[in-house]
Amino acid sequence: MSRKTINVGLIGFGTVGTGVVQLLKQNEDLVRKRLGVRLAVKTIADIDIITPRSISTEGIELTDDVNDIFNDPSIDIVLELVGGLGVAKNILMDAIAHGKHVVTANKALLAVDGNEIFEAADREHINIGFEASVGGAVPVIKALRESLAGNNIKSIFGIMNGTCNYILTRMTDERLPFETVLKEAQILGFAEADPAYDVDAIDTAHKLAISLALSYGKRVNLDDIYREGIADLKQQDVEFARQLGYKIKLLAIAIQHKDMVEARIHPTMIPTDSLLSSVNGNNNAFHIVGDASGTLLFYGQGAGMMPTASAVVSDLIEIGRDIQKKIWRRVPIRGFKKDRIDDIRLLPMEEVRTNYYFRFSAVDRPGVLSVISGILSNYNISLASVIQTERKDQGAVPVVMTTHESREKDVRLALAEINGLDVVLDDTVLIRIEDKGSTT
Ligand code: HSE
Repeated sequence: MSRKTINVGLIGFGTVGTGVVQLLKQNEDLVRKRLGVRLAVKTIADIDIITPRSISTEGIELTDDVNDIFNDPSIDIVLELVGGLGVAKNILMDAIAHGKHVVTANKALLAVDGNEIFEAADREHINIGFEASVGGAVPVIKALRESLAGNNIKSIFGIMNGTCNYILTRMTDERLPFETVLKEAQILGFAEADPAYDVDAIDTAHKLAISLALSYGKRVNLDDIYREGIADLKQQDVEFARQLGYKIKLLAIAIQHKDMVEARIHPTMIPTDSLLSSVNGNNNAFHIVGDASGTLLFYGQGAGMMPTASAVVSDLIEIGRDIQKKIWRRVPIRGFKKDRIDDIRLLPMEEVRTNYYFRFSAVDRPGVLSVISGILSNYNISLASVIQTERKDQGAVPVVMTTHESREKDVRLALAEINGLDVVLDDTVLIRIEDKGSTT
């Protein structure tokens, strides 16, 4: 008997859930034309089914018991939009155990527990969609897993967190301090519930971990990814970056080496005329280089009600298509055959080679500059430029240096020695620079 409707059970009726219900209503005919049958949210489960939402729920059953969804044989797909780890994980695992296909936007859960969840989904022949977990509306999951399947992914340079990009844009364009702009971002509503997830780059790490798994067909241990956030960034360094012809962005970086991958997240200076430096506000962007495709740039809204709903609905349609064809999944979860998945080997951070910006807080005394540059040279760190500003008082003056390509290990050793000098009054600020053309 042919189906008339693909039924969805939505768990978590917040902003994105509301967007999904709205989008399925607003584009009902279009979705039916694409899918061939109706795609409908049949039941919504939430701990709060009393507070009115901005859309009508007419025709949808509301419940505060998720079992009403799991035990309903007419529900084909469970849509998990609860967020967070523990409860959301139980929901996904229970849905899988009940034979329901699942869709989620939960990047934290996939980055932390994805290996276990993917295994359960494979074992039970369950389809799992997570396009919304990275890049919001930007179709980067599909691009990495399917559209670029014929390529070695040489590199990914991503602006994956809208909140950080918004903060950095305002610090650069309006010369505002970090604290002021963070408050603005929280009011605008795209910051995580705990802003440390954004500014400490935890959210970016979740998204990079998922991107790595799809690009290289690997199991990724989130804690192995090197991560620095933007919380310590000073307006002074944004200004020096400007003088040097750079903008500072929080970049998630993946670079393919022979049998390893370099993966790191940190504030990064990139040339002001590069593609990524023009990505402003809360937008996301993914600069991806494939060995056949060459450079690609994916850009757009990485968060928000309707952009995220756009990605979720694309997953629902795809799974709906597979259900109609009576196949459980056309494409492997990470895009590689299950027996080809192994653990990723990450290049140790100390072996990374890139260019660097240093801001020293040095006493303005004859010979100080040559002591600092002497130590750098002892560690094979070669200088590209030096800026020393006018002395304003008797305290420290900022001395800025940029380097040619150097090894992280050498940089750390040199800075430890320099920071120990009597004439250096504060710990040196280090910002990595990417101007090798990988972001152009
Ligand atoms: N807090 C995230 C961001 C939301 O700012 O990008 C989308 O994952």
